Amino acid sequence: MKVTSVSTLDDTTATAVVVGVFAELESAPGSRALLQDYSAILKSFDFEGKSGQVLAIPGENGRKLVMVGLGEELDAEGLRQAAARGLKAASSDDVVATTLHQIEIDGADLAVVGGMAMADYRYEDYKSDAKERPELQLELIGGEPDLAGIDASLVVMEAVKKTRDLVNRPSISKSPMTFAQEFAEAVEKLPISARIVSGDELEKEKLAGLIAVGAGSSRPPCLLKLEYRPKDAKRTLALVGKGIVFDSGGLSIKPADYMYDMKCDMAGAAAVSSAILAIARLGLSVNVVAFAVLAENMTGSHAQRPGDVIRYRNGKTVEVLNTDAEGRLVLADGLCLAAEEKPDLIVDMATLTGACKIALGPSIAGVFGNDRSWVEKVVLSAESAGERMWAMPLPDDHDYMIESDVADMKNISTGRYGGAITAALILSKFVGEVPWVHIDVAGPAYMTKADHYIPKGGSGFGVRTLVELARSLS
Ligand code: BES
Ligand code: ZN
Ligand code: ZN
Repeated sequence: MKVTSVSTLDDTTATAVVVGVFAELESAPGSRALLQDYSAILKSFDFEGKSGQVLAIPGENGRKLVMVGLGEELDAEGLRQAAARGLKAASSDDVVATTLHQIEIDGADLAVVGGMAMADYRYEDYKSDAKERPELQLELIGGEPDLAGIDASLVVMEAVKKTRDLVNRPSISKSPMTFAQEFAEAVEKLPISARIVSGDELEKEKLAGLIAVGAGSSRPPCLLKLEYRPKDAKRTLALVGKGIVFDSGGLSIKPADYMYDMKCDMAGAAAVSSAILAIARLGLSVNVVAFAVLAENMTGSHAQRPGDVIRYRNGKTVEVLNTDAEGRLVLADGLCLAAEEKPDLIVDMATLTGACKIALGPSIAGVFGNDRSWVEKVVLSAESAGERMWAMPLPDDHDYMIESDVADMKNISTGRYGGAITAALILSKFVGEVPWVHIDVAGPAYMTKADHYIPKGGSGFGVRTLVELARSLS
């Protein structure tokens, strides 16, 4: 999406104009003149300016006029969603103009551009009738939009879309190595260094979780390390992302109904890898080291078995009682490596547990950690970025739930309850004393229905929060 600024409606070449209407048809700043004559028509369509309402009607000069309801009280997130709905109603137009950014809310321009950019998304790589479309042009009419801020926001939205593309891509076309190599290529023109650890090197580095989980697949596991160390940066953020390119459950195989969307199980790895690209593009003054732990959880003859024990690089041992609880097994490798960097904070992101989705529903991520103030900071970064996260407990007297008869711990808990907590508890054993926050995105990473700026399928969830967090550390 390309964004420019024009002074008046007469200066735009747009074929559609998106304007805002508050409750009881009170027009938003910038749209008053435009809307004067339309109130009878709006009423006849039962358009009252309620939040969520959208109405497109023929306007002057052959232009489409798209009205979006803003409700009674509007915040930045409401505006972001309204802008997205407006853009979708104008989705067949290549040049769209709007006045929504003139609304008096802090960061209104960024919210409007962000919402529209995220709504301007289709995944059509496998649609044989997909048409090449020109890049969408958005013209902001009037006001004083912060064009530099908007460019920065577009960098983040590109990273969101890159994450969606990767998550939506069928597993057959994203082996662990393909994933790693594509990022290694993507960072060639950026101040980011890439290292891929695979084959015998995984043994040498004692990345035992990746080896065990990846053993059942003909497509071998690997670890991708991306490093951004700008001059003068004072703090270091380490990121770890779960990158299971397909989760069949392994020998503890999933029922078909739980398997069909498991191409999404690498959403954490896609989010952290895309986020570090955006952070480097923005030139934020903070060191970032990202680890994507990449494997395919399959049932081949070399697959790990229930009852096997994994010995990790930090000396800890884990008894694998359910091969479908594989995310924690590979994340443990990434967390060991991240802790060795001695960062100020480790953040891991993972489609880790169905339990978290049951606890918080499909659109909210669970946030756990060993340091309350960092958990709060991450939740606040999410809030200002427009993503929904909720702090969850990580009690220090629940180790009995992961006690193993033969190893230091087992990879599932005794009993059915608290599955998101016990998964986090296992992860906590691999970060030592380093402040660490775990974000379980099993719900919001992949949506079964579209809403405002979130499409069906991969949502790109987490990228905006990670960039916002990096910004707050820079
Ligand atoms: N990848 C799944 C979790 C998941 C579920 C992600 C739904 C996205 C949507 C994970 O590897 C898994 O299978 N977890 C098991 C753990 C259980 C065996 C302890 C689960 O949540 O059922
Ligand atoms: Zn699993
Ligand atoms: Zn999984």
